[in-house]
Amino acid sequence: MAHDLFEAAKAAMAKAYAPYSKFPVGAALRTEDGRVFTGANVEIASYPEGWCAETTALGHYIMGGGGKITEIAVIAERVAKCSPCGGCRQRLAEFCRPETKFYLCDDSGVVETVTMGELLPYGFEGDVLK
Ligand code: THU
Repeated sequence: MAHDLFEAAKAAMAKAYAPYSKFPVGAALRTEDGRVFTGANVEIASYPEGWCAETTALGHYIMGGGGKITEIAVIAERVAKCSPCGGCRQRLAEFCRPETKFYLCDDSGVVETVTMGELLPYGFEGDVLK
């Protein structure tokens, strides 16, 4: 199961638009009913306005109906393990459980598996807004 998500993330990475950093990233997430959504990073000439692969995947996921996320794979061409940035951790946490698995991948497959709770142990929680 992890390997097919790795392959989806790798295929997404091939679509990255990263002409400035030359750091293509791909992400793929699976919902508990088995749907898979992918994304790649997008950069623009006004650098801070670009966004991450995980965020692209989240956009597709929301437009595809959302649901609980159970697994996420992330891959970057230039590093053996791309750990999601802080902003993406917080965005993903909105739709994950602490036990949601993150597969950090290299070119041939999953290198390390960590959980949402490990990646963002003390994140902001929306309950306080209610
Ligand atoms: N990037 C991602 O897509 N995901 C991450 O988790 C870390 C960084 C992208 C953003 C930017 O296009 C490039 O990698 C270099 O920071």
